[in-house]
Amino acid sequence: MKRIGVVTSGGDAPGMNAVIRAIVRRAIPMEMKVIGFENGYSGLIADENRPLNLRSVSGIINFGGTFLGSRRCPEFKTEEGLKKALVNLKKHEITDLIVIGGDGSLNGALDLSRFDSINVYGVPCSIDNDVYGTDETVGFDTAVNTALWAIDRIRDTATSHRRVFVVEVMGRKRGFLALSVGLAAGSEKILVPEVKVDIEEVLELLENNRKKGKKSNIIVAAEGVGDLRMFTQKIHRKTGYDVRLSVLGYIQRGGSPTARSRILANLFGSEVVRMVEFENKNRVVGLLNGKVTSTGLEEACEKKKPLDLDLLRLTEQLAT
Ligand code: ADP
Ligand code: F6P
Repeated sequence: MKRIGVVTSGGDAPGMNAVIRAIVRRAIPMEMKVIGFENGYSGLIADENRPLNLRSVSGIINFGGTFLGSRRCPEFKTEEGLKKALVNLKKHEITDLIVIGGDGSLNGALDLSRFDSINVYGVPCSIDNDVYGTDETVGFDTAVNTALWAIDRIRDTATSHRRVFVVEVMGRKRGFLALSVGLAAGSEKILVPEVKVDIEEVLELLENNRKKGKKSNIIVAAEGVGDLRMFTQKIHRKTGYDVRLSVLGYIQRGGSPTARSRILANLFGSEVVRMVEFENKNRVVGLLNGKVTSTGLEEACEKKKPLDLDLLRLTEQLAT
């Protein structure tokens, strides 16, 4: 009989609960057992877990965060940590482990899969959308909409006071969140770590926008581009514009998942149980060109998902 372990790891993302629910609701009718490990990989190492049944996942589809808890767990990157986790997985006779998390968590899953004593599967959940093998991670759409909600409000002040706003969004070392949010918000400029920031070009853009009579300028910047305080001060010094930096922060991580994040969670949760059933192991579920599919864990961890730079140019073209 299949005994599935489920763990949510790394940064929490809206829709993680919906993924757990979908896994439980698909697996249990197929006579599989599901055990939830708590607090990310720390719970595998410390043996913190609880059995999950159909009712354990009632009423959670609309909640952000993860009811199993999540952590960053440096110990899991060590051989010793991995071995402790394997001992506990063996103790509970886990045949298949489903890791729900971002790129870091999937790297941890890959390390575990190398021991070959357990089947490992990944479900990409992260507001960063930085996982190769899927066009979208669970939680990304929610974070985009939350940041957009905030920027629409910031635009009111920017226009009323004729200010420049630099809005910092999350995304770690990648610019997926900044790109989608910037395009959707009608921002004047998007800064992403994938493209070197050219301050002279930004200054020229702002001068041109002044000449064109634009009342407000919003620059959406990914946190990964570096220190934005200095950048903001320099814009003020060089242009005389009234400039403000607004760091959106953790509001982007939480909240009720959007319909799109929930639907993706349902599709991914359901597909990963099908993969367990057929032992299509050591793979990460994903959505490519509208179809649910999967990619090998190793490939997903090694390859870098490209950012569509054409969308950066489009944003600027539309903000003339
Ligand atoms: P996310 O999964 O949201 O990207 P992290 O990058 O913090 O979050 O990763 C979550 C956990 O996965 C880490 O705390 C660590 O236990 C494990 N992990 C991260 N990167 C690696 C790696 N390169 N190799 C092995 N394990 C990793
Ligand atoms: O990976 C999700 C994320 O929110 C990133 O966008 C951000 O850089 C990071 O997590 C923050 O992590 P922590 O809360 O552990 O500082």
